[in-house]
Amino acid sequence: MTTVLVTGGAGYIGSHTCKLLARTGRLPVAFDDLSNGHADAVRWGPLEVGNIEDSRRLREVIAAWRPEAVIHFAGLIEVGRSVEDPAAFYRTNVTGSLALLEEMGAAGVRRIVFSSSASVYGVPPASPVSEDAPLDPVSPYGETKRAVEAMLDAFARAHGARHAALRYFNAAGADPEGELGERHDPETHLVPRALRAALGLESHIAIFGTDYPTPDGTAIRDYVHVSDLAAAHLAALDYLVAGGDPVTVNIGAGRGHSVRQVLDAVRRITGRPFAERPAPRRTGDPPELVAATGRAARLLGWTPRLSDLDSIVETAWAWHARHDAPEA
Ligand code: UFG
Repeated sequence: MTTVLVTGGAGYIGSHTCKLLARTGRLPVAFDDLSNGHADAVRWGPLEVGNIEDSRRLREVIAAWRPEAVIHFAGLIEVGRSVEDPAAFYRTNVTGSLALLEEMGAAGVRRIVFSSSASVYGVPPASPVSEDAPLDPVSPYGETKRAVEAMLDAFARAHGARHAALRYFNAAGADPEGELGERHDPETHLVPRALRAALGLESHIAIFGTDYPTPDGTAIRDYVHVSDLAAAHLAALDYLVAGGDPVTVNIGAGRGHSVRQVLDAVRRITGRPFAERPAPRRTGDPPELVAATGRAARLLGWTPRLSDLDSIVETAWAWHARHDAPEA
């Protein structure tokens, strides 16, 4: 059985990917400091508790498991917090990734799939945005993702290590079998926040910006189902194991939905009305962010299967109705 080290394996996308790795006959070893992840989401392989900035701990775990590859999810993700506390983001996302790459190199582990982000594009000049668009992040979070992409390129040139950097668009939805879902604290993402409003846990949902140059005035995003994202990591792993060259790929559904369209889908699917209130734009939010998905299809053979808006909201609703609902 081949072993894959999954940093951030107790987190939202990491845990869904561990489940799929196990289903395809691999052993996922989750490496997570549990600062945001959940130990009870690690069910398909061992949990090694540790922080990616801790080189000694990384060395120990890599030596113990001798992984064929690393899938590297661990990192801080809240764009707003990155503006307030950039040091934490550079430390975890950049220094942590450097420590990981160095320990991988020392142990001869040469394949890595990295969680990059559409935030590297900033406010893209065109939509859908292709991988060749200029990189111009507008937050420290996006800057850290760009920095790690550059680091991966440099390591590939210098040492022949091979990587797939996956630029996620908006991850959403939950495991269709109901075993895993999204649990962030604080929750900043649109779909879970709308579901919390539907459950009556919030008085309303704020719409950040109603004057964007879009058909209904609200921002457009490309929502991609977390199980499709997990499958993209498996496809990237297969690509690297087959000898593929280093690659950077968008992972999105290739279709955009406005904030209002998402809220309407949540009301329709849950059958529960909730209030919305216009609020100012969030700094750095682009009007529209939709992936050009040709490269992922061509190089990885990956296409989304569950990323229609209804499947995303239905699976997320099944999860949140069970885990967030107030006690009766
Ligand atoms: N939104 C609201 N109200 C809310 C929450 C969000 O109107 O309560 C809006 C946002 O302004 C945005 C859209 O809903 O237009 C989606 O917002 P999310 O916070 O769910 O996601 P983002 O697009 O801000 O961020 C996501 C990832 C980031 C990544 C980014 C790439 O969460 O990690 O995409 O741009 F960096």
